[in-house]
Amino acid sequence: MLKKLFALSDQGERELKHGIVATTIGHLCIMAPISLLMLVTMGLLNRLCGETELTMQPGVIVLMAAVLLLLIFITQWVQYNLTYKVAYEESANRRITLAEKLRRLPLAFFGQRDLSDLTTTMMGDCSKLERIFSNAVPSLFGTVIMFVIVSVGLLIMDWRMGLCIVLPVPVATLILIAARKAQTKAESRNYDAHRAAYDGVQEYLDTIQELRSAGLEQEYLDGVEKKLDYVVKCAFRNELAPGTAVTLAQLTVRFGLVAVLLVGGLLVAQNMLSVNMFILYLLVAGRVYEPFGSCFMLMAELFSAFVSIERTKKMEATVEQTGQPVCKNNGYDIEFKDVSFSYNDELVLNGISFVAKQEQITALVGPSGSGKSTVSRLAARFWDADAGQVLLGGVDVTTVEPETLFKNYAIVFQDVTLFDDSVMENIRLGRAGATDEEVLAAARAAQCEEFVSRLPGGYYSNIGENGCALSGGERQRISIARAILKDAPVVILDEATASMDAENENLVQQALSVLLRGKTVLVIAHRMRTIANVDKVVVLEQGRVAETGTPEELLNQKGLFYRLAEAQTVHR
Ligand SMILES: Nc1ncnc2c1ncn2[C@@H]1O[C@H](COP(=O)(O)OP(=O)(O)OP(=O)(O)O)[C@@H](O)[C@H]1O
Ligand SMILES: [Mg+2]
Repeated sequence: MLKKLFALSDQGERELKHGIVATTIGHLCIMAPISLLMLVTMGLLNRLCGETELTMQPGVIVLMAAVLLLLIFITQWVQYNLTYKVAYEESANRRITLAEKLRRLPLAFFGQRDLSDLTTTMMGDCSKLERIFSNAVPSLFGTVIMFVIVSVGLLIMDWRMGLCIVLPVPVATLILIAARKAQTKAESRNYDAHRAAYDGVQEYLDTIQELRSAGLEQEYLDGVEKKLDYVVKCAFRNELAPGTAVTLAQLTVRFGLVAVLLVGGLLVAQNMLSVNMFILYLLVAGRVYEPFGSCFMLMAELFSAFVSIERTKKMEATVEQTGQPVCKNNGYDIEFKDVSFSYNDELVLNGISFVAKQEQITALVGPSGSGKSTVSRLAARFWDADAGQVLLGGVDVTTVEPETLFKNYAIVFQDVTLFDDSVMENIRLGRAGATDEEVLAAARAAQCEEFVSRLPGGYYSNIGENGCALSGGERQRISIARAILKDAPVVILDEATASMDAENENLVQQALSVLLRGKTVLVIAHRMRTIANVDKVVVLEQGRVAETGTPEELLNQKGLFYRLAEAQTVHR
């Protein structure tokens, strides 16, 4: 039950149970000195009443106190070790599981959830749960079990006095539970407000260039400021809801002591209760609520942690991309069989069928938004098709583990991503472990030499976050060098040379023609001259295949391809 409730691992659940047992014993041990106190008080009372005989030797009492002290120390130590060990190990496990999970998730997942949401789940929620498990859960269970045991004893000895001590606790708990709904609502709102503000700041930094050039910077900043103000408001409300409930609950349990005093005093006056018992209940009432002080606070924290647990569970429940660790493909033909695909319920590809043969260059052509990039992503299993099949050498790509499958692909994306590192390392990303000479050879083939020689540190120059120190064409050349270095049997080029001038494009095309020999090539290009010599053209229109054939055949057909080609000649 604990496992499911708190999204724990098997080991986590086992160790949490041990932690709870240790905490319960710990709390019970803290209650034990009451009996000792009772004995001493009785002795003193007897003395006051004129009895000379000692009920217990002082030496025995000191010895008992020492034994109790030792016992308290041991249980506290065990409890500390167990509960903190569980918390930190479980938190590390949870982060590793989430990271593993991320590796297996389809890219569609990252399109739906933005990055701040992911970081919050991975770092924020895990830290929160870490605190909860090291503190709240064992302490809560320990306190409740200790209280039940003590209550049974108290009720058996005298049910009237017992009730005075026991009753305030369920009442206080009810107050907390009643406030839970408001607390969860405030918690969710607080989380959303934080995320919106975080996204706002992030977006501002990402788009500062555009905002400044459009003269909208101040306007945008005003919007961000509003979001930040809202965060403060939400954070305050988020503290207020549990704060009020916890204070009320703590006040309620304090009534227990008052009730013992009143009811006990009344019963003693009517000779219905012995003074000894009255003192005993007074002592217990003074001590038994102590763990509840922090316990109620932890309970409120636990309620808020359920929001985090739900988020973690949701992420863990997302369908993974799995498959065999080997790919038994026969050759490297890529075949689309009646493939349909939608992003967020919006149909983008509708019954696409075509074959891109090995040793041939197949071009995907079509108006902007017709689905070319989407086809290239499905070919490499970045997403899984909703219907139909994508085959690599006769093997359905969904049966192969993405990591194994990716080894067969070298991809140059339309929007190149570079890392804040040197040119050398950015190219080496194509094939980890490639020697410097191999990297340099690939860089030269992709015409990087000319611009790299102008950088102050050459190939070892840092290119800034996402290559901000480079032009669009230069970034593309780095990306092409990566693909050349990887030398994979399937090459996908999505507008790979679109940002280059004609001279550079020609040189890169020459280098690519060597690389592409004998491979399966899918090329996407708007410029007709880039695809003049391809073996096959697949023309897409609104997510459907409109035409297929060689460039000459399609020009003669005078269909969409012809019109697209014509439009470009007219413009030129
Ligand atoms: N991550 C995404 N989430 C939602 N919709 C998307 C996403 N990526 C693309 N789309 C939509 O899918 C459709 C096809 O996009 P795709 O990028 O495949 O077009 P394209 O043919 O490559 O266009 P272009 O020539 O402009 O690159 C477009 O309508 C686009 O708005
Ligand atoms: Mg595209």
